[in-house]
Amino acid sequence: MHVHVNAAVSVDGKLSTRRREQLAISGPEDFARMERVRAASDAVLVGVGTVLADDPSLLRHDERHRRNLGKEGLPARVIADSRARTPPDAAILEGPAVTYLLVTDRAPDDRVDTLRTAGAEIRTVGDDRVNLAAAVEMLAHDGHERLMIEGGGEVIFSAFEAGIVDELTLFIGSLVVGGREAPTLVDGEGFIEEFPQLDLREVERLDDGVVLSYDA
Ligand SMILES: NC(=O)c1ccc[n+]([C@@H]2O[C@H](COP(=O)([O-])OP(=O)(O)OC[C@H]3O[C@@H](n4cnc5c(N)ncnc54)[C@H](OP(=O)(O)O)[C@@H]3O)[C@@H](O)[C@H]2O)c1
Repeated sequence: MHVHVNAAVSVDGKLSTRRREQLAISGPEDFARMERVRAASDAVLVGVGTVLADDPSLLRHDERHRRNLGKEGLPARVIADSRARTPPDAAILEGPAVTYLLVTDRAPDDRVDTLRTAGAEIRTVGDDRVNLAAAVEMLAHDGHERLMIEGGGEVIFSAFEAGIVDELTLFIGSLVVGGREAPTLVDGEGFIEEFPQLDLREVERLDDGVVLSYDA
């Protein structure tokens, strides 16, 4: 399974503001680029923090690019949601694409049942938090070959910690957000040693910012 982390940050590395509201960091060219990455993916993953903050549908993608790649159907959507906190009326559960809800043994049965009824494909992967390495194996077993991770910062940290990241694409917009409580690209506990080391592959100017592409 190829795992591609894609995100947009401010000059100071923030994913959004301290209020955790959705923030327009990218412009149209970067959106189009992001929609091509989605189109090339078999599944797109976000953490429940992003679902609660942004209520994304994750449906928009470059259909022509997907057709040219010979991919059928829509990219599946995947939520890392240990305790099944996703609202049953979340946009990510609507529409024609499959939505996997990855939960753990800590998820209350009644919430899991409600979300199954709302259309989620429930998978238990982990005891405390969703085990992302196990999630990748499960998705590969279901025939998925390319996973895009869109955030947020907690999930991206866990993806690096689990050693599952193959590629990172980062759009850096030219705005300053600031705020010690504002989410950054990689949050979680952070590393104090054995820092994941990336190889910078490409630098491109796009919209009012730059796109950095790394191999991990
Ligand atoms: N600019 C961008 O490109 C971009 C993209 C996406 C999001 N965002 C922004 O990012 C913010 C949300 O980020 P966030 O860091 O708060 O939330 P997040 O990473 O989306 O979700 C974090 C939550 O996921 C659950 N989770 C389950 N398994 C996990 C695991 N193995 N590792 C980490 N978390 C796991 C945890 O809740 P449980 O323990 O309850 O399961 C955790 O609190 C929002 O402000 C959103 O707007 C920006």
